[in-house]
Amino acid sequence: MKDMLERLEERRAQARLGGGEKRIEAQHARGKLTARERIELLLDNGSFEEFDMFVEHRSTDFGMDKAKIPGDGVVTGWGTVNGRTVFVFAKDFTVFGGSLSEAHAQKITKIQDMALKMRAPIVGLFDAGGARIQEGVAALGGYGEVFKRNVIASGVIPQISVIMGPCAGGDVYSPAMTDFIFMVRDRSYMFVTGPDVVKTVTNETVTSEELGGAKVHTTKSSVADGAYDNDVEALLQVRRLIDFLPANNMDGVPEIPSFDDPSRTDESLDTLIPDNPNKPYDMKELILKVVDEADFFEIQEAYAKNIITGFGRIEGRTVGFVANQPMVLAGVLDADASRKAARFVRFCDAFNIPIVTFEDVPGFLPGTAQEYGGLIKHGAKLLFAYSEATVPLVTVITRKAFGGAYDVMASKHIGGDVNYAWPTAQIAVMGAKGAVEIIFRQDIGDADKIAARTKEYEDRFMSPFVAAERGYIDEVIMPHSTRRRIARALAMLRHKETERPWKKHDNIPL
Ligand code: HXC
Repeated sequence: MKDMLERLEERRAQARLGGGEKRIEAQHARGKLTARERIELLLDNGSFEEFDMFVEHRSTDFGMDKAKIPGDGVVTGWGTVNGRTVFVFAKDFTVFGGSLSEAHAQKITKIQDMALKMRAPIVGLFDAGGARIQEGVAALGGYGEVFKRNVIASGVIPQISVIMGPCAGGDVYSPAMTDFIFMVRDRSYMFVTGPDVVKTVTNETVTSEELGGAKVHTTKSSVADGAYDNDVEALLQVRRLIDFLPANNMDGVPEIPSFDDPSRTDESLDTLIPDNPNKPYDMKELILKVVDEADFFEIQEAYAKNIITGFGRIEGRTVGFVANQPMVLAGVLDADASRKAARFVRFCDAFNIPIVTFEDVPGFLPGTAQEYGGLIKHGAKLLFAYSEATVPLVTVITRKAFGGAYDVMASKHIGGDVNYAWPTAQIAVMGAKGAVEIIFRQDIGDADKIAARTKEYEDRFMSPFVAAERGYIDEVIMPHSTRRRIARALAMLRHKETERPWKKHDNIPL
């Protein structure tokens, strides 16, 4: 018996070494942690239970029968994050470059199946060279099995991917179908085909960082939702995100004890809006002053900054925030901002997270670049996402709500449950200058007349009261009471039920 126990310990120790000490040193020398070190950081201390530590590939081609390493390049199992169950797989770059074989894929699909069965989130940590080239189609088949499970689990359990090294070829599509992708700056990159193939096919010379580094994917492509400086920070932030998320689409949002009074008022909000309607102010200030303990987890912070998306809490319960940002492009809705917010709204709706919308939007961005880029379709995504959402929707118009953008941003007409406006709100088809130039065209050239017409338009339309008179706004509220109003609205909406006709699925414009 003693021998057997010792033998087990030996085999475990060997498996834990992955590709061996030299490769672990090389991994560290590149500023990267190993798969097991990463899992230790992600999960609560001592909570990791590993599965399939002794799995080996079954390939015999190209001398692979003599190259077997227990674990086969991926570490899988489950543990807890602040006490809540989470499933995890982490590619082990020290073993065949973390490449995916048939057996490696089976380890991942086992964890995916268990996460779905247990209705618990799954986190994938990526650092790998794609399909195990020596296995050919067996590896491609393995990817297909992983992809299919990503899609079946989508909208049922949160799926999070963290890119911590190379992520190329087949490895990119599994993260792409998960809910969130985070990257580590300067050490991770994602692309379908690498710089060498790019050079051959298009004759472009590009580095891995330029082609698919964290900067590219968080600012240009919007493939990634956030970037962090190193492995430790990335994993700690993923723990923070998991604290905001429900375990699945039936569980409801987690409730975290909050010491922040839901009735707290903030007098400084009464002066947030500048006197000049064309002067910007920082919408993040409003979000931070409204959420519990100023704790806000922003999603896609570096992309389409004219709209802000992220998670906060009110009375300890998770809320998704969508807010126009007047500091960037005057908070206008363009194609990128519409896509970014639409995806966020759909995530919240799928997982029963109520949405609070702060609105200050001068309209959709005009121009050929936008129209050629499909502004109509992308804007429709946001309109569609809000209109199909059945979660509680609370909207606060702080200043401008002009044109189609008024309808789109969770207006009463498309399903807003409680719609508030600050006294500074201006709800109209367009701003005074543009409106007067169209409807009083005959007076252009007569400065006095134009000034009088502008004043007339401003007095009538540049306020929340025309909308409030029609019941499109439920109440004009004091800015300082915004947190209290939202907290009360969300409490009232907690058991909201909405019936929709049966359909197989909708046909959101993609
Ligand atoms: C088998 C692989 C491998 C792979 C790396 N290795 N990628 N083994 N299959 N895909 C092995 C290397 O041979 C090497 O083994 C070890 O892992 C470390 O790799 P290095 O190249 O030394 O590391 P580095 O210089 O850091 O470069 C990392 C890398 C590079 C950029 C990821 O290895 C690389 O380009 N790999 C190939 C990427 C690729 O083309 N993959 C296939 C994509 S096609 P030794 O023993 O020599 O140390 C694909 C199709 C799926 O995935 C499509 C599904 C939809």
